[in-house]
This record gives sequence, C-alpha cells and structure tokens, in this order.
Amino acid sequence: MLTHAIGADPVQDFAADVRAGLTLRGQKELPSKYLYDAVGTALFEVISVLPEYGLTRADERLLRRHAHSIVEQLPAPTVVAELGSGSGKKTRWILQALCGRQQTYYCPIEISPTALAMCERELKDIDSISIVGFEREYVDGLREVASRREDHEHLLVLFLGSTIVNFDRSAGMRFLRQLRRILQPGDALLLGTDLEKSIPQLLEAYDDPLGVTAAFNLNLLARINRELEADFDLGLFEHVARYNHAARSVEMHLRSKRKQTVAIPAANFSVTFQEGETIWTESSHKYSRPELLQLAMAAGFRCQAQWIDDEWPFAENLFIAE
Ligand SMILES: C[S@@+](CC[C@H](N)C(=O)[O-])C[C@H]1O[C@@H](n2cnc3c(N)ncnc32)[C@H](O)[C@@H]1O
Repeated sequence: MLTHAIGADPVQDFAADVRAGLTLRGQKELPSKYLYDAVGTALFEVISVLPEYGLTRADERLLRRHAHSIVEQLPAPTVVAELGSGSGKKTRWILQALCGRQQTYYCPIEISPTALAMCERELKDIDSISIVGFEREYVDGLREVASRREDHEHLLVLFLGSTIVNFDRSAGMRFLRQLRRILQPGDALLLGTDLEKSIPQLLEAYDDPLGVTAAFNLNLLARINRELEADFDLGLFEHVARYNHAARSVEMHLRSKRKQTVAIPAANFSVTFQEGETIWTESSHKYSRPELLQLAMAAGFRCQAQWIDDEWPFAENLFIAE
C-alpha cells in the first residue's frame, strides 16, 4: 500500500491553525479535521458502535442491503476513491460487489495514517482488490487518483458516514462543486448523509452517557499538549453538544470551567479563556431528502437513486456527474 505525506511540515500547519482559531476575536474554534490523530481515530471507532450513535449502523445497513443495485448502476471498469475512509469496514459491501465483476483499484484518501493502516488491514482479504492509500486531504487526494486513471476507467467516489455534514451548507455545496470539477461526466459519487430527526435523539448521539464523545472532543486539547507542548488542564474543560436551530446542526464545543490562561509554546502564543467560554470544534448539519436532490443538481450531478434506512433516518445517495 502506497501512502503520500500530507504536507512538508504538518506540525507547523497544526500550530498555525491552532493559533488562528484560538486568537479569533469572537467564537474561538478549531478545525474538526484535527480530531483524528491516532487516539481520536480509535475513539471514533468506539463512537461508531455506541447505541446512541445510529449513523454508522444505518449507513452500514444501507450499503449491505443495496451494494449490488448500487454497483449495477455503475459502468465498468470503475476505480474507487474513498474520501475519509476511516477503518473502511462498511466499504467492504461495495468493494465485494465490484470485485465480483472486475479487478478493482480502491484508493482510500485519509488525513489519519492510523485510519489508512486500519483500512488496509480490514479490506486486503477481498479477492481481486488492489489497495493504494493516500495520506492526503480530500481534494488533493482525489485529484491525484483522477490524474492516474486511464482513459477507459470510470471513477466512483465514496463519501460515507455523513462526513459531508461537517461542512456548513454553503461550504458543503462548494465542496461538491470542487469534486464535480475533478470528475468526468458519468463518474459517480455515493454520498451518505444523516437526515433530520428529533433534537433529543440528535443530542444523545453527540453526547453519550459513557463519555466516549466527550473524550473524543477533549482529545483535541490533549493532542495540542502532545504535539505543541501546551499546558491545557483537561479537567478544566468540559464537552458540550448543542443544537443550533438556525443552522439545523449539532455543534460540539469545549467549555472552560473557569477563567484560565493556557500557553502553547510551539505555536508561540498564550490564550486566555473566560469562565463559560467555549471552543467550537465540530458541527454536524442535518439534511432533508429534497435538500439533497437540490444539492446534487446545484453541484452539477443528477441524483440517480436514494436509499433511506428504515430504523434511523439516513440517506445513501447515488449522484452521477452530468
Ligand atoms: C466522521 S469520520 C468517518 C469515517 C468513515 N468514513 C465512516 O463512515 O465511519 C471522518 C474521517 O475523515 C477523515 N478526515 C477528516 N478530515 C479530513 C480531510 N480534510 N482530508 C482527508 N481525511 C479527512 C478522518 O481522519 C476520519 O477518518
């Protein structure tokens, strides 16, 4: 399995982003992609089996049940690129269906080397598969995969687990347009998206009683301590999940329990938090079915098919590039 490094100096990039986010004048924030170091990747795997977090099971049920009809709608031969594959467990169903008809190149694109390694271990036993992993950000990785494909090959891009919802609605649209520009007419995008549901159910999904999601969120401060020599006292911050009615999203924050100053030497700054002040770390926007059809059209795709889970409102959308 080949992997490619993300940037010349990932620690410097991390330091610059932490500094930019924690010195904002209003709401402090940190990019959600930094939740996924080795510890965060392992904690996300635990989140995905929590009873309160129905998303992963819904996604998996849809892929298992409909893998063959999804694959039947794709031209051959098809190269598969998966954005943010994580462990790749759910992807097995699609890959097995594709590998039943052709030798298949599968290219997971991940910011987390831990996730890439898990993904290869998880899927390498499938017959007729060749796995080439890319340790890259989504768009860079997809450009690289697209540039390597041969003229007769089609692309299937997988963006599962409802990861698209971490973008706000307009950024999600811009992101899909970026993907569309890399694709050719007839290429496919399989997009897993969580749908609107009751607010208590949503809040439980992002604030489980066992505290795994809290640990996942707090690990971001622990990561800053580990990689940027900071002195965050994790006991002085708490995980908060809140529903933003205007954005129709669940937000994760880290709330300072008291006024405190934290030094982050490797990023050359200190930051003061007031009691109750929060750092916004992630948002998960919830979509309606008609919104997804509009999203496809506005980004230059047609929605070829949509499958909905009957236990947890979740949509698997097959978009074809026009
Ligand atoms: C919500 S998890 C979903 C994992 C998996 N697709 C699933 O459905 O369980 C998001 C994954 O995307 C990866 N990721 C986050 N931001 C990324 C970025 N900018 N570029 C590439 N990968 C990213 C993370 O490392 C993580 O494994």
